[in-house]
Amino acid sequence: MRTYLVTGGAGFIGSNYIHYMFRKYGDEIKIINVDALTYAGNLENLKSIEGKQNYSFIKADICDKEAIREIFAKNDIDRVVHFAAESHVDRSIKNPEVFVRTNVLGTAVMLNCAKEAWELPDGTYKEDKKFLHVSTDEVYGSLEEDGGYFYETTPYAPHSPYSASKASSDMLVRSYMDTYHFPANITNCSNNYGPYQFPEKFIPLVINNALQGKKLPVYGDGKNVRDWLYVEDHAKAIDMVQEKGRLFETYNIGGHNEKQNIEILHIILDTLQEMLADDDPRKKLATEELITYVEDRKGHDRRYAIAPDKIKAEIGWEPETMFKEGIRRTIKWYFENEEWMKNATSGDYQKYYAEMYNAKSE
Ligand code: NAD
Ligand code: DAU
Repeated sequence: MRTYLVTGGAGFIGSNYIHYMFRKYGDEIKIINVDALTYAGNLENLKSIEGKQNYSFIKADICDKEAIREIFAKNDIDRVVHFAAESHVDRSIKNPEVFVRTNVLGTAVMLNCAKEAWELPDGTYKEDKKFLHVSTDEVYGSLEEDGGYFYETTPYAPHSPYSASKASSDMLVRSYMDTYHFPANITNCSNNYGPYQFPEKFIPLVINNALQGKKLPVYGDGKNVRDWLYVEDHAKAIDMVQEKGRLFETYNIGGHNEKQNIEILHIILDTLQEMLADDDPRKKLATEELITYVEDRKGHDRRYAIAPDKIKAEIGWEPETMFKEGIRRTIKWYFENEEWMKNATSGDYQKYYAEMYNAKSE
């Protein structure tokens, strides 16, 4: 039975990945989820699997070398899938240091502990051990509105403290592959959306606000472009890269689904109008009048767009969920999980929201 060590598995993509893996492999795999449970980590995301024999959760910080070393010592780990990170650009602009700590130092600790556990005396590695570092398209910087794509060969040019910290972590992984021949892959994915996404990110924030008749904050002119991918397609790609990809390679993940933020907003409002029953009071709330242009994000990257040619040609991965379908599924999930949203937005979230948006919109 293959054993996976997943970091950040209580977050948005990590929890979707764990659900995907159990759906795909059932009891053929074991998953150990290590997560520090920051504001972004939520064990409710994993409630349906928490009693499984082949799943365990360990609360630990990836910067805690002793804790991570102990996990490797006590378990014969075959695969590391490293999601744990500080992930929100706006927070990185307000408080960069925690991004450097978790994303750079934490990745160094994960690499070092895995190397220590897997390396043989002659400098080669135990058989079939693999580390996958989950990264982002933001490391490539920003594209012009009317041209170009991010390829695996595109030079790194990060702009925000978040993307700079992720770029640094990618470089560390590259250095381990180059220096120690460490068995790893890097994936750089575009913007994800889907169930369990924390409502600091654009899509769940818009859904949540619209249903309550709250303003929908659009940064700048609303024409920044992101390349959206349904989270389950990302989970599938990660698994395929780890099992079918060439070691030491980087793979870009994305589905040619570029949209301006303002378009996304209209799609969400239109979909809400389609899905809400006529007598549902939220139908009258979720209207275009809520759209509010606010001060732009500092250093706001204009456009991201992934060229997924390599992953398609080498591995045969392609996204399966079209945006129209994915956004319906996402909205349906938020309809069915009101309690999740209520819990996620209680307490600290209110403080965060007030600090982040009050100054912007008034
Ligand atoms: P998230 O913020 O929802 O989850 C991050 C998880 O990491 C949380 O569960 C949190 O508790 C945990 N964590 C944070 N600091 C930790 C620490 N020091 N030790 C242990 N655990 C810690 O993030 P996400 O959106 O699920 O992103 C996951 C990964 O995917 C990140 O590496 C991110 O850079 C990358 N990524 C995200 C997207 C996206 O659109 N969300 C796209 C491409 C790549
Ligand atoms: O591209 C991959 C990246 O996508 C990941 O690496 C990050 O972890 C993830 O957070 C995401 O980063 P973005 O900054 O692109 O996502 P966010 O949801 O924060 O914003 C999407 C776009 O919407 C961006 O252009 C900013 C804009 N925006 C965002 C918020 C929160 C608004 O206009 N208003 C908002 O309130």
